[in-house]
Amino acid sequence: MMPYALYLHIPFCRQRCSYCDFNTYTTLNDLQPAYVAALAAEIGQIGELAAAAGDPRPAVRTVFFGGGTPSLLTVAQVAHLLDTARASFALASDAEITMEANPGTVSADWLAAVRALGVNRLSFGVQSALPGELALLGRAHDFAAAVEAVGMATAAGFDNLNLDLIYGLPGQSVADWAQTLAAVLSLAASAPAVTHISLYCLTIEPGTPMPVSYTHLDVYKRQEERCIYEKSSTRAMNCGSSKNNCHSGNTNSNQSTADNVARFICWLEWMPHLDA
Ligand SMILES: C[S@@+](CC[C@H](N)C(=O)[O-])C[C@H]1O[C@@H](n2cnc3c(N)ncnc32)[C@H](O)[C@@H]1O
Ligand code: SF4
Repeated sequence: MMPYALYLHIPFCRQRCSYCDFNTYTTLNDLQPAYVAALAAEIGQIGELAAAAGDPRPAVRTVFFGGGTPSLLTVAQVAHLLDTARASFALASDAEITMEANPGTVSADWLAAVRALGVNRLSFGVQSALPGELALLGRAHDFAAAVEAVGMATAAGFDNLNLDLIYGLPGQSVADWAQTLAAVLSLAASAPAVTHISLYCLTIEPGTPMPVSYTHLDVYKRQEERCIYEKSSTRAMNCGSSKNNCHSGNTNSNQSTADNVARFICWLEWMPHLDA
């Protein structure tokens, strides 16, 4: 039997980012206890269905708490969900258990507690190092909060951190983007726990408040640039160790994240027309 990968969706956020169309809610946080109870019940039911199909306690290699903002879960809620998963499935001893976390929503105590429960990988939504871009994105934190979160996670014993960034923002120049990469490069160089950096090209989702300042022609032109960014980012950033978040590409995985970010910045400087 193929090992299972459990994805646990936590659809609660403190505030809605301007680009986001994920299934998440900012005004229903009082439903969090009931939601966690329902999710635990569903984990148990899926385990029972697998058992009925002749696969009792199926093997699970990865668990991913995605969102929304899973770092809004209380320690007791994380414990309940993981206990239920362990009761219904055979979690591999080296299972990767990831939680998406927003800078500004984590404390040293919470990080130490969820690490002790078995969460061994965190994915922080950093998005940008520039205050103006973070404001445009509607993020509830600044870059300093991201740096602080990485420091606290490292002190709590995490050695496998991913940082998400978004590029291709309205009004963003290549110099702006390189500035964010340089800041994140510096953070990764000082924090060996950062094993992976994910680069997302902004998707402007219908119905979101993200201001669209492009003409159609601009969108077309920028889409081409984004393809180039995408290819380069895959090539340059494929240095992570996540079992859950595999990218195709040919980067030498023995190279450090910092080496690969540095190569990516060089590559951007080599493409001057991107700033046109
Ligand atoms: C599942 S999301 C949520 C993670 C977490 N809630 C946060 O915001 O930090 C994972 C990542 O997808 C990226 N993302 C979300 N919406 C996007 C969009 N419209 N365009 C590009 N990237 C997006 C962001 O980098 C985000 O950190
Ligand atoms: S924190 Fe993440 S999931 Fe929540 S609104 Fe912002 S991007 Fe969307």
